[in-house]
Amino acid sequence: MARYADDLSLAHLLADTADSISMARFRALDLHVESKPDLTPVSDADTAVEKAVRATLARTRPRDGVLGEEFGASEAAAGPSTRQWVVDPIDGTKNFVRGVPIWATLIALMEGDQPVVGLVSAPALGRRWWAAVGHGAYAGRHTAAATPIRTSAVRRLGDASFCYSSLSGWEENGRLDAMLGIMRQSWRTRAYGDFYGYMLLAEGAVDVMVEPELSLWDLAALIPIVTEAGGRFSDLAGRPGPGGGSAVATNGPLHEDILLRLTR
Ligand code: IPD
Ligand code: CA
Ligand code: CA
Ligand code: CA
Repeated sequence: MARYADDLSLAHLLADTADSISMARFRALDLHVESKPDLTPVSDADTAVEKAVRATLARTRPRDGVLGEEFGASEAAAGPSTRQWVVDPIDGTKNFVRGVPIWATLIALMEGDQPVVGLVSAPALGRRWWAAVGHGAYAGRHTAAATPIRTSAVRRLGDASFCYSSLSGWEENGRLDAMLGIMRQSWRTRAYGDFYGYMLLAEGAVDVMVEPELSLWDLAALIPIVTEAGGRFSDLAGRPGPGGGSAVATNGPLHEDILLRLTR
């Protein structure tokens, strides 16, 4: 059997559980929303999804570690492991709590510091994206209806659809002028935000997606999907992988140009 096939099947199973919990709470009149210490919202759906995913992982993968946004890191029952599941129970909580259907559960498997399996499930959009390193990237309603996905071949910023999440963070890191310059020179600019800009990139519908400050659970699942679809992912310093806490995701041909514009 192909490497990571079992892990990918488990990721789909985890996403099925997550989807049924989150969809039952989406637009529920009694949704309970609290504010975290950093003043961002968290709902009962975020915590319920993460608890359910962790319970299944503890049962099925006792040798793997887990990291989730709402409940932090836990070691494998069998002791320290190089394999860790990384879960963002709901990416796009601000959309979720306002009834906007662009939110997803993000599930990744890391080996050491490399994400090797990524799955993004957006049940309110009726869509899922997934990839395992070396096996390509796919999208569909479910595995039986999977289609391979590919990034675009756009080579010039003037022809590119440029995507970001929000303008916050860019002034603080001294790159706001560079961002505005890119926006002026791109063919089109849109703020799709959260996981969605990266998935549109992986499908070839946008060409660049950038974010200045992210956590491992925001990024780990997205990277294998973007890179297996033919794109490139790095932090703002050009280092591949999720470690840098920022994101420059492109179709590939545009990567060096975008990095240069954001760092000069
Ligand atoms: C947020 C989203 C958003 C990013 C924030 C994240 P959440 O995740 O990924 O795009 O700009 O930094 O915290 O809280 O909705 O999972
Ligand atoms: Ca997130
Ligand atoms: Ca989240
Ligand atoms: Ca959050």
